[in-house]
Amino acid sequence: MPLPLIEAYGLGRSYQQAGEAVVALSSATLRIWPGQRIALVGRSGSGKSTLLHLLAGLDQPSSGSLTWPALGPVESLLPSMIALVFQAPSLLDSLSVAENVALPLLMAGRGSDSDARVAFALNTFGLLALADKLPETLSGGQMQRVAMARAIVGEPKLILADEPTGQLDQASGHVLLDALFKHLAGSDCALLIATHDPVVAARMLIHWQMEHGQLTSGERPGGPR
Ligand SMILES: Nc1ncnc2c1ncn2[C@@H]1O[C@H](COP(=O)(O)OP(=O)(O)O)[C@@H](O)[C@H]1O
Ligand SMILES: [Mg+2]
Repeated sequence: MPLPLIEAYGLGRSYQQAGEAVVALSSATLRIWPGQRIALVGRSGSGKSTLLHLLAGLDQPSSGSLTWPALGPVESLLPSMIALVFQAPSLLDSLSVAENVALPLLMAGRGSDSDARVAFALNTFGLLALADKLPETLSGGQMQRVAMARAIVGEPKLILADEPTGQLDQASGHVLLDALFKHLAGSDCALLIATHDPVVAARMLIHWQMEHGQLTSGERPGGPR
């Protein structure tokens, strides 16, 4: 029986805004298992990014419990075990596309064979021709593809992607997802995509709905997959 990658009970996160508590996430209970493909669907402001940042161990919950049984302690999660694709642009301006993609390998002390891994990740998303470009010369959609290449380069156990097609037209969004699914086919890497786009969500097997900080279908009966 495999261990879940993530297990959360009654997870909550509140922010202070102008002296008032804003409840961004309330009492979420969920598990993520190896190999799962999950769409986290909800309107803007429903709490999707808040949940992703907690699951990546980047932020601390205000309430509830959160553990990574198959992945280890929170300090070891990013960027080796979990890859987080941010909603906002996150490439480093002074580094080339190839250097940005290599970052997770360097941070994990796995720089020795990084050239081949980076070339593979760039090729997966049709980015080889852009390897030496600086981020400022790229379109928003190209930046999202680079961020995705950076997410797969270290072969993480879980990819958390926050609106990864938000800067792409529908056709380009499908091309990016096609490349990602092809890369992950047969792999045990789990994928959670936050999106407000039903067309993107329709490509994922499992749908979790967020409304006003409430996760309405986080737990699937029957355990793994
Ligand atoms: N750092 C923050 N400080 C204060 N409020 C925040 C912060 N981040 C998010 N919020 C609030 O939490 C709620 C959920 O936001 P978010 O998780 O970004 O939703 P989504 O990703 O679904 O658009 C919103 O009301 C947002 O304004
Ligand atoms: Mg968001």
